[in-house]
Amino acid sequence: MSFVRRTGRVATVGAAVGAMVLLAACGGGGNSGGNTTGGGQQQAGPNWNEKGPIQFVSGKDTSNAVPQIIDKWNAQHPDQKVTFIELSDSADEQRNAMIQNYQTKGADKTIYDMDVVWTAEFAANQYVVALPDGKFDTSKMLKPAVDGATYFNKLYAVPVTSDGGLLFYRKDWMDAAGITAAPKTLDEVKTACKQMKEKVAEAKNADCYAGQFQKYEGLTVNVSEAINSAGGNIVKDGKVSVNSPEAQKGLQWIADGFKDGTIPQGAITWKEEESRQAFQDGKLMFLRNWPYVYSKFSAADGSSKVNGKFGVAALPGVGGPGVSSLGGHSYAVAQHAKNKGTALDFIAFAAAEEQQKQRTITSSLAPTLESLYSDQELVAKYPYLTPLKQSIAGAQPRPKVVKYGDASKAIQDASYGVLQGQKDAKSATAELQTKLEGLVK
Ligand code: GLC
Repeated sequence: MSFVRRTGRVATVGAAVGAMVLLAACGGGGNSGGNTTGGGQQQAGPNWNEKGPIQFVSGKDTSNAVPQIIDKWNAQHPDQKVTFIELSDSADEQRNAMIQNYQTKGADKTIYDMDVVWTAEFAANQYVVALPDGKFDTSKMLKPAVDGATYFNKLYAVPVTSDGGLLFYRKDWMDAAGITAAPKTLDEVKTACKQMKEKVAEAKNADCYAGQFQKYEGLTVNVSEAINSAGGNIVKDGKVSVNSPEAQKGLQWIADGFKDGTIPQGAITWKEEESRQAFQDGKLMFLRNWPYVYSKFSAADGSSKVNGKFGVAALPGVGGPGVSSLGGHSYAVAQHAKNKGTALDFIAFAAAEEQQKQRTITSSLAPTLESLYSDQELVAKYPYLTPLKQSIAGAQPRPKVVKYGDASKAIQDASYGVLQGQKDAKSATAELQTKLEGLVK
């Protein structure tokens, strides 16, 4: 895949002072001593004093939130400008690009916007470096997000956005059909769809439910959620436990959904963005997606057909409330990058409260600072913050393994055939159990 370069524009408005506050104030940086990796071996420490221009590498910025923050930084730091390298919207392609940059010893790509699930893999393989002790205060951040950025008790990245799955629904159609509460179970989702189709003319041609079912990381997320939401687990307490009736039930729910038309056939090719578009175009009654879609759905410029017409609730489960898979992104420093000193300062700046708040307003991504979930301005504008905080608090992490790429692929391989009706859930989970046991050690 290719990198797309977006150079930050110079901010014209006066950049607020004191933005670096908080985190930057918590440590002096400049720790260039030895660094112990997860594997325990000693290596020459990174040079945390080197400053100069850097590149920030991240997945597709659907809401244009990144340039705002970069512009503000660049206006204050003309000698340490940050350039935005924007990758695709696919988590897998982002991961490949970052690994490839390590393999080619890339010195220009400085900060990775790293998915929470890659921490173990990126840390153990030294694609990224451990951050200097004491530089970042993560005590006011959501604990699951901080745990996700930590490997062998070392912080490898600073959590900047978290993520939790949510159920988006057509509130206008639910109201018109006389349904007063969002469905809590997947069976209730089906019943609600039936009622909407019967009673609401506009809903007749809409599909019932979708998530992300293309064969990529998003499928791992949706399958994990279905399994957890049916009372099963893929890996629990370090042990592979996917070969269970509960896990089969979860997987079967998605397969049945495809079979009986609850989920449209086309969704087998959807990632976050395709499914977001379908809901936004008024083609779906329910959608499982991440909070970033909230701002897209609420657009008042004519791009959204659901502005003011949708609601947000916790994920439904099999026989009871659902469980989200923990998502999110943290900023890490690439192993071979130059100007690591500037990288630390930019990370502190981007993770500070002022920037987190701005990012939440622009993009509706989940902040990692706990205080922002009770910030009056944010809660008034984004009522979904309350179910979101609960979603993240109850979320299950995906397997934290060094061979994460292989483990995720194994989950996708096992489940994709079931979803397409080519394999049964029982043999798929048995196969997956064996494969994962070889990877999760
Ligand atoms: C979101 C989540 C991330 C997840 C990805 C899957 O970006 O934050 O954790 O892996 O979606 O597509």
